[in-house]
Amino acid sequence: MSTAAALSPETMAIVKASAPALQSHGLAITQRMYERLFVDTDIKALFDQAAQESGEQPKRLAAAILAYAQNIDKLQNLTPAVERMVARHVETGVKAEHYPHVANALLPAIRDVLGAEAATDELLAAWGEAYWFLANILIGKERELYDAAA
Ligand code: HEM
Repeated sequence: MSTAAALSPETMAIVKASAPALQSHGLAITQRMYERLFVDTDIKALFDQAAQESGEQPKRLAAAILAYAQNIDKLQNLTPAVERMVARHVETGVKAEHYPHVANALLPAIRDVLGAEAATDELLAAWGEAYWFLANILIGKERELYDAAA
């Protein structure tokens, strides 16, 4: 497990308070995120397009983001989900350098869907921190598997 600094209680509270909005709008957010992400064709090529077109992958990501918001103060609940993400990421060749692309697609997508009034700078800053906290956990575990395979 990576030893990232813990999220502040304020950040956790803001992210947790956004869970109802994510419950209502999570799928619209992840669909918008993929539209932004797939402008880069090298990134798009990592994804199984059938799972995109069926809507399965946007649904899985929306569910993961919602579960993260709800469990941000009890991350041990997410261990099995994190292990599945790590396994799938290693199967599909996701690397540390891909993570900024997802951050740069996800955060504007939250604003696109919720609107600037709901998606305040404070909310987006909290989600940015929360994104990188989870991303660093995933990156650390994925690196261990890539190193073990090398
Ligand atoms: C914190 C960031 C991320 C989260 C929370 C996340 C979450 C997920 C989840 C929940 C799945 C589905 C796992 C399953 O099959 O049950 C998944 C799969 C996948 N993720 Fe991520 N992911 C993140 C970052 C990334 C990045 C940076 C990339 C690369 C650009 C990426 C590419 C993929 C791919 C290619 C799959 C497999 C999808 C398919 O079947 O086509 N993910 N991810």
